[in-house]
Amino acid sequence: MNDDISRVIFSEQEIADRVADLGAAITRDYKDVAGPEGIVVVCVLRGAAMYTCDLIRAIDMPLEVDFMAVSSYGSGVKSTGVVRILKDLSSNIHGRHVVIAEDILDSGLTLSYLIKNLKSRGPASISVATLLRKDTPNQADVNCRYVGFECPDEFIVGYGLDYAERYRNLPYIGVLKPEIYQ
Ligand code: IMP
Ligand code: MG
Repeated sequence: MNDDISRVIFSEQEIADRVADLGAAITRDYKDVAGPEGIVVVCVLRGAAMYTCDLIRAIDMPLEVDFMAVSSYGSGVKSTGVVRILKDLSSNIHGRHVVIAEDILDSGLTLSYLIKNLKSRGPASISVATLLRKDTPNQADVNCRYVGFECPDEFIVGYGLDYAERYRNLPYIGVLKPEIYQ
């Protein structure tokens, strides 16, 4: 698996440190606002699963975690622009403060769709905590309150991010050699 990576962009330690920062920032911003009910962290499956598990443990206030699965990519490397809900939330988010945990903002289509969809359910607020924001041309304008890292416009895998469902279990984030997907 490691042989398919051309270079490591974010090491395991760098990721851990940055996720701790994001958790601390979310705690600071929501502790007083959200009250005893706390926030709802919405994990966008499957890519954000690992990140969400680490992020919620870095948030020091009451919270609920829920999961949503959407499709946007199939097994290729380019966004199709078609977003479908494969698994919906279990909780009602009406009146709740929602933080969407997403792995990566690329074209922005997935998050634009998700924000619009979740807004229609009447939450008290919605913000986005994306681990990565890719430097993608013509990216949709998505307001991300929390961004872990800015990353170059290359295809990356690891720490939850996949290519054709593989490489999610790499503990670091690295660039996939183009010959793997070309
Ligand atoms: P967007 O709708 O184009 O912003 O794409 C968002 C989704 O595409 C993310 O949730 C990822 O699952 C996937 N994605 C985008 N870029 C990459 C990448 O470089 N590696 C792996 N998955 C990616
Ligand atoms: Mg994906």
